[in-house]
Amino acid sequence: MAKVAILGYGTVGSGVYDVLTKNSARVSTSAGEAIEIKYVLDLRDFPGQPVEKVLVHDYEKIVSDPEVSVVVEVMGGLKPSYDFVKRALEAGKSVCTSNKALVAEYGPELLKTAAEHNVLFLFEAAVGGGIPIIRPLRDCLSADRIDRIAGILNGTTNYILTRMEREGSTYGEMLKDAQSLGYAERDPSADVDGWDACRKIAILASIVTGKQVRYQDVPTEGIAQITREDMRYAAEWDMKIKLIAAADFADDGVSCHVAPTMLGRDSQLYYVDDVINGVHVHGDQVGNLLFTGAGAGKYPTASAVACDVVECVRSAGLPKRNLSFAGKAALVPEDETTTAAFIRLPEESLEEARKCLPVLKEIHGVKPGEAGIAVSAVKVGDLKAAAEKLKTVKVLRMA
Ligand code: HSE
Repeated sequence: MAKVAILGYGTVGSGVYDVLTKNSARVSTSAGEAIEIKYVLDLRDFPGQPVEKVLVHDYEKIVSDPEVSVVVEVMGGLKPSYDFVKRALEAGKSVCTSNKALVAEYGPELLKTAAEHNVLFLFEAAVGGGIPIIRPLRDCLSADRIDRIAGILNGTTNYILTRMEREGSTYGEMLKDAQSLGYAERDPSADVDGWDACRKIAILASIVTGKQVRYQDVPTEGIAQITREDMRYAAEWDMKIKLIAAADFADDGVSCHVAPTMLGRDSQLYYVDDVINGVHVHGDQVGNLLFTGAGAGKYPTASAVACDVVECVRSAGLPKRNLSFAGKAALVPEDETTTAAFIRLPEESLEEARKCLPVLKEIHGVKPGEAGIAVSAVKVGDLKAAAEKLKTVKVLRMA
């Protein structure tokens, strides 16, 4: 019987408790032995609830118990999560976490600690919630050269943009709505400013390169500047605006960014709406793949964490297959990367735009006095310079 401790009995923690309990038959068949939740750590009490029997308030009890072989960290944040996780690994316990902030900040170090102690540090739920994406990149695609990952990695912003597009409403109105439904936090900046998606793409890019892609180095733009007019322009071309987190892998380095992007129906991500997440992966042998599903939520996230627990238990006594983010990945400076773009600009700048940019198509009449143009791939640095010269109203990436 494998003994597990869960740190945190919030939404995800109680979900992991439920999955391991409700699906115990399936879980033990997959793991090769039964799994017992020996402890749940939380500051609160849960009188009358089944979890009460295993509830503890003191982490020392867990970390010093040699029977506990797997620790599930689902508290979120960095403090005290980092200390708890580090100590669990050093004590010879495998750790499964859904905490993307922890992985983005301390992933390289924690993976190294896990390898040194022959235990696992797994984090399937940290990117895409319930969508299997880390394991496919690690295992199923390990013989492919991955050229590109592009994803809708944040459900809150996808929900807001989808509603804006469908209803012609403003960003502010839809943010309030997302908050009232519990999708967006009271302080929504991690989602709407793109930082959540940024951490997730940095983790995925680190997995592909085997080196750390620092999230702090990923150019990141959120959705707060997206307006109803932008949506109307997109609709005129039968396109949508999505918050895309992308990483391109080439011999000279990784290009990574998070930005609102105009997509057409030829993109598989065009069809990923509402709070759903989607990750498009292109491998040189397998071609295009799309992983899609619930990127957050109690049970989808718990499903991914519980699967990590199963892997930890199944690997008892075997050499451990941890990922490794050793050293820093070379990032191509954003200005050197290329992108197609949609540009809103004053009508009087149009003549100049036609001379200095590869204009593919134009649109007039969406807003008096201005035009919209689509340009084919240009260097981001040149785009920025042109935008300044043309006094543009808005520049968005296009895919
Ligand atoms: N806040 C995230 C989202 C979920 O909206 O997708 C957790 O990663």
